[in-house]
Amino acid sequence: MKFRAIMGALCAAGLMCGVSAVQAAESIEVLHWWTSGGESKAVGVLKDDMTKQGYTWKDFAVAGGAGAAAMTALKTQVISGNAPSAAQIKGPLIQDWASQGVLVPIDSAAADWKKNLPPEIDKIMHADGHYVAAPFSVHRVNWLYINKAALDKAGGKVPTTWPEFFAVADKMKAAGIQPIAMGGQPWQDLTLWEDVVLSQGAGFYKKALVDLDEKTLTSDQMVGVFDTVRKIQGYFDAGRTGRDWNLATAMVINGKAGMQFMGDWAKGEFANANKKAGSDYVCAAVPGTEKSYTFNVDSFVFFQQKGEKTATPGQLALAKTIMSPEFQEQFSLNKGSIPVRLGVSMAKFDDCAKKSYADEQVAIKSGGYVPSLAHGMAQPDAAAGAISDVVTKFMNSQQDSKTAVAALAKAAKTK
Ligand code: GAL
Repeated sequence: MKFRAIMGALCAAGLMCGVSAVQAAESIEVLHWWTSGGESKAVGVLKDDMTKQGYTWKDFAVAGGAGAAAMTALKTQVISGNAPSAAQIKGPLIQDWASQGVLVPIDSAAADWKKNLPPEIDKIMHADGHYVAAPFSVHRVNWLYINKAALDKAGGKVPTTWPEFFAVADKMKAAGIQPIAMGGQPWQDLTLWEDVVLSQGAGFYKKALVDLDEKTLTSDQMVGVFDTVRKIQGYFDAGRTGRDWNLATAMVINGKAGMQFMGDWAKGEFANANKKAGSDYVCAAVPGTEKSYTFNVDSFVFFQQKGEKTATPGQLALAKTIMSPEFQEQFSLNKGSIPVRLGVSMAKFDDCAKKSYADEQVAIKSGGYVPSLAHGMAQPDAAAGAISDVVTKFMNSQQDSKTAVAALAKAAKTK
C-alpha cells in the first residue's frame, strides 16, 4: 500500500513514471481528429510511447479535417460528465475551456518548458498563470504543394507571385493537367482565403485578421483578395464538394492534379505515400508569402477526471511525453510539421521541414510570424466562425467581392 502511494505521488509530481501497478490501471481517453494516413501514423507514436509506459490508450478519434466534428463531440462529452483525459484543443479555445473550470493544471510536468518554447507559444499554453496545454509541433499553413512531374510536363517554374502562379496553372491546363486540387469544407476555403490575405503582406494580415481593423477589412486591397480567390477558383475541378483535404492531396500525389494549397500536414500524406520532397513534389511558400509564416500549433488540454482538480499520473505522463525531445522529433517526422520544442535536431528532416524551420526563424525576427485564422490560432470561435461563413458563402456562390467585403466587416464584430 505504502509503495503504491509513493509511486503515485512521484508520478503525479512528474518525476518517475515507469511501468507500475498504479499506472497499469489507468486508462487514458484521448480525443483528437487525426485520422488521415499521415495523421494516424503521427498520433500512433504517442499511443506507442504511452503504452510502453504502462498506460492503456483509449482512442477517441473523430474524423474531419481541422476538427469541427471533434469539437462538437467534445462539448457533448463534457456536458454529459464524460470528459476525456485529454483533447486536441488549440489557440484561444484553450483559454475558453480553462474559463469553464473543467481543466487541470499540468505545471509539474512542465518544469523545463518555458526555456524550451518560443515565448509566443509558451503564452498560449497557459491559463491563469498555469500550464494547461501541451504543444506538439508547429505547422506552417501557407504552403503550395506541386507535383514535380506535372510541373515539368507543363514546363512551368515554381511560382513566387500570383501572375507567375496563374501562368503555371494555364500551362498545366494546356498540358491536360487539372491545375488545382481543392477540397470542399469551409475550413479549406478559409485556408486558401487567408493565404491570399497573407500574400498582401504580414502587416496587412495582422491588421485584418488579428486586429480585425475595420479600415483594412473594408479596403480596396481586401476587395482584391476576394477577386484573386475568385480567379483561383477557375482552376478547381467540378468534384470538390465534400472532398476531404487528404483526398485532394492524394490527387497531387497521384498526378491527377498539379497543385494544392494546404498546410504542411499534407506533407505527412506525401511521406506516408513514400514520396520525396524535391524529386516527387515541391513545397513552396504560397505566392507572395515567402517572408511570412502562418503558424498553427496543435496541443492537448487535460480535463478533470471524476471531479478531481489535479492531474492524474497518466495525464502528467502524457504532457511530459508530448514535450520530450524524442517524441517531438518522431511526431513531426510523420506529421509534416517541425518540433515546437526549441533545440531539437532537424538532421533527420526533409528539405521542406528544413525550409519551414529556417523561414520560421526569419519570420519571427521580421514580424512575419502570424497566427492562422483558419486553424483556430488568431480569433475566438465566434468571430472566426462568422468570417468563415462569409468566405464560404462567397466561394460557393456568384457573390461579388464588394458584397463579400461588406459582410466581412460585419462578421468581424461577432462576439
Ligand atoms: C489542422 C490541425 C492539423 C491537421 C489539419 C487537418 O487544424 O492543426 O494537425 O491535422 O487540421 O486535419
